[in-house]
Amino acid sequence: MILIVDFGSQTTHLIGRRLNYLGFENEIINPNDANKKLKSISKSIKGIIFSGGPASVYEKNAPSINKEIFKLNIPILGICYGLQSIAYLLGGKVISKNREYGPEKLLIKSKSFLFESFPQQSIVWMSHGDQVVKLPFGFKILASTKKVKETAIGDEKRKIYGVQFHPEIHHTEMGNLLLENFAKKICGLLPEKKPFLVKEIVDQIKNQWLSQNQGKAISAVSGGVDSTVATLLVQKAIGKNVVPIYIDTGLMRDENEKAVKKFFKDNLKIIRAKRIFLKKLKNITNPEKKRKIIGKTYIEIFEKEAKKIKDAKFLVQGTIYSDIVESGQSKGNSAKIKSHHNVGGLPKKMNLKLIEPLKNYYKDEVRLIGKMLGLPKEVINIQPFPGPGYAIRIIGKVTEKRVEKIKKIDKILNNILKKHDIFQKIFQSFPVLTGIKSTAVKGDERVYGEVVAIRIYESVDIMSASWAKIPYHVLDEIVKEITEKIPDISRVVYDISTKPPSTMEWE
Ligand code: XMP
Repeated sequence: MILIVDFGSQTTHLIGRRLNYLGFENEIINPNDANKKLKSISKSIKGIIFSGGPASVYEKNAPSINKEIFKLNIPILGICYGLQSIAYLLGGKVISKNREYGPEKLLIKSKSFLFESFPQQSIVWMSHGDQVVKLPFGFKILASTKKVKETAIGDEKRKIYGVQFHPEIHHTEMGNLLLENFAKKICGLLPEKKPFLVKEIVDQIKNQWLSQNQGKAISAVSGGVDSTVATLLVQKAIGKNVVPIYIDTGLMRDENEKAVKKFFKDNLKIIRAKRIFLKKLKNITNPEKKRKIIGKTYIEIFEKEAKKIKDAKFLVQGTIYSDIVESGQSKGNSAKIKSHHNVGGLPKKMNLKLIEPLKNYYKDEVRLIGKMLGLPKEVINIQPFPGPGYAIRIIGKVTEKRVEKIKKIDKILNNILKKHDIFQKIFQSFPVLTGIKSTAVKGDERVYGEVVAIRIYESVDIMSASWAKIPYHVLDEIVKEITEKIPDISRVVYDISTKPPSTMEWE
């Protein structure tokens, strides 16, 4: 198997997932545990990957690995911070120089096993501030970008390699091939693909339920694919013991409520709570505070509802892996980007036990499970909508008036995208009320109104995203209709930032 040393990257788990997909067994370990185990490292370890991470190698307390690891004669691949660690530990030089975030063109400079069957040029995704400027002894440059010569380096004799980009990110065109080359050609492993079984997930849920005193499970449904798939899985495991509950926070799209009504006809409970949420959010402008308040209110309402249901013991949530990583709650050292409401908002002491059947899966895997459960395409490909809803798309104070305003703009935007057959093809599309004012002239009159930003992008697993190349005439139509129909909007801008560096949501 391959050992992945986690230096705290947002995408460490994704490396493991890609290897699983390619058929290579792997295990993630933190650097301290790896250091402790170095002397007794198992013979079954045929390759080691150093993940990326948010630190700089010169920082005090930067995660590091004992140099003895290079003497084990096990092939090593360093990714991003992992590459920088290799260079630093083996006598090269790392400095903070050319930052690269998002797509870059990779040019192959030298023949190597790592880049076998690669085209001369391909797109890779970056997210780094530091770079290697002097190679350690025995290494040569294997590939470069325009700005960074030392983008991929290797010592083929010792089988130690490093790449500055992230092969595990979906947007890196040849990423899977690079990982496959490392595992197959360099570590000498043979792939062994395991079938992906829904039954295993259902059995796990059933075992948890049986071992934790059974009882009823209330399920937080939102109409999105994650909570729908999670609830259906739990229904498969424990049947009618699941009670789906939809909380109308007043901050969700109307489609969400329609979807839950369609799916969970039998015993669905809808709780109207718009007033409570608006009251709790009054005058709150900090995004993390908004998230925490929404999460807390959400769970308080759930606990109250649970008390009304005889024998309720569990809470089902559609949490997926990217929620956990971004909330800084994964096992490794990854930085907190934002507390997703279903992760960061839960109280430390909760009366309900959690069932989160999807917490180890990414969005595209959840969609695959949905497909295996026989869900129709429209449900599987439904656009994700964040739990805190419009509250995190309204920069600044969340008021009833602003929620109504963004809802109207959202409808205009998405109706146009639907009309042009774009809505189903993209990952997410939404407006952001930026809170910035600018001047406009409407009907010969000066209007000092709010700027709306439009975000439309493509993604597979949420960990990376590129902006959608919407035809100009469609963008024209969007801007025209918003500025004409919504009185105090002065202008509309189109956000073309990729992730990384920019997250999908603005807050
Ligand atoms: P970001 O903005 O982190 O978004 O790139 C990644 C995905 O997660 C959604 N998102 C959230 N979902 N609670 C949620 O349930 C949140 O606090 C939250 N923040 C972002 C976002 O819409 C995208 O699909």
